[in-house]
Amino acid sequence: MRVLVIGSGAREHALLLALAKDPQVDALAIAPGNAGTPAVADQHQVDITSGDEVVALARKVNADLVVIGPEVPLVLGVADAVRDAGIACFGPGKDAARIEGSKAFAKDVMAAAGVRTASSEIVDSPAHLDAALDRFGQSAGEAAWVVKDDRLAAGKGVVVTPDRAVARSHAAGLLEAGHPVLLESYLDGPEVSLFCVVDGKTVVPMLAAQDFKRVGDGDTGPNTGGMGAYAPLPWLPADIYRDIVGQIVEPVAAELVQRGCPFSGLLYSGLAITSNGPAVIEFNCRFGDPETQSVLALLESPLGQLLHAAATGRLADFGELQWRDGAAVTVVLAAENYPSRPRLGDVVVGADADGVLHAGTARRDDGAIVSSGGRVLSVVGTGADLASAREAAYRTLSSIRLPGGHFRSDIAQAAAEGKVRV
Ligand code: AMP
Ligand code: GLY
Repeated sequence: MRVLVIGSGAREHALLLALAKDPQVDALAIAPGNAGTPAVADQHQVDITSGDEVVALARKVNADLVVIGPEVPLVLGVADAVRDAGIACFGPGKDAARIEGSKAFAKDVMAAAGVRTASSEIVDSPAHLDAALDRFGQSAGEAAWVVKDDRLAAGKGVVVTPDRAVARSHAAGLLEAGHPVLLESYLDGPEVSLFCVVDGKTVVPMLAAQDFKRVGDGDTGPNTGGMGAYAPLPWLPADIYRDIVGQIVEPVAAELVQRGCPFSGLLYSGLAITSNGPAVIEFNCRFGDPETQSVLALLESPLGQLLHAAATGRLADFGELQWRDGAAVTVVLAAENYPSRPRLGDVVVGADADGVLHAGTARRDDGAIVSSGGRVLSVVGTGADLASAREAAYRTLSSIRLPGGHFRSDIAQAAAEGKVRV
């Protein structure tokens, strides 16, 4: 099987490494990739938001399967273009990708499927902002305001704060820039990211993971695209895991089938485990980054065959996934000033170590690896348990040099110490 992966992050680097282990995968290509991916795949440059360009590349490399990593091409319908060209594609079409691309669509699907989620309200004019903030701040038990940019914002358009003035200023700024604002009720409880491979109705769940969204230790500072992740979650009871699949993911998949836009690809549920049970924070229409780096490090089933089965509607025959025992911890090394205005062009030393996945990296003319994006590398450690996986990740990280680079030192720490409770 020849596989073309679309994207350039550590998620795509992890996908390539896992695909390379599948005995049925004999050729890998990537576009656009990063400075780490030429070691595993033939690298090509295309505009990944253009269906025509992706199809032309898929034909050129004779791809049997195209795997689309990021949300933007999916929301724009690139998977539809690939399928229309007669090539199997892992990733939902434009219609089903609205589960991530349109918060209003996602809320509507959840309401129809009877899935618990935060209550929400769209504010589209500064004149309505104060009254709306009051409604959310005053509802029972509300610990914080949740203010979101109602467009794709890679997790960075969200402010969660107990401070009304901070909430107001973020919302006012978005409105001033012409972006509608989504206010949500606050969902309390530890967060879970659950990836399910879906082909219409069949749902195959992966290991649950947890992501660290805030930039600083102890969940301080602004939200980012994700500063680290671990899997599995020793604190998540098996019955809650089953409820998430049976009472949230399967009903949502069935609802999308019923609406005539079956979801084919990776349905990512971002959940909070509240005192009333799991509730959905958001759905994404693709693998999450950095959770993928941890989850795939533990996958034993052949990834190419799994994704091809999903892309061709044969997932029901695939069966349950097989996992390695133990745990995986991913720590993101970010550029100076990430997430606001990351400084780029710094030389990265040590990025060829085992367990290092590239993200925002490029190779300079003189051969040096330099930072080219806010999240520069993902460092993955595995071990018999979370404590040893953490140790492995941080040991590798200590051998890498990036001027101004920063990372969280507490990824998976609370879980390793048994301090996460539901
Ligand atoms: P999103 O981009 O919607 O995933 O939001 C980014 C992060 O903000 C989430 O991973 C949560 O940590 C937090 N968040 C978003 N919505 C809520 C909510 N309704 N209640 C509590 N936390 C939230
Ligand atoms: N880890 C968060 C995301 O991929 O959206």
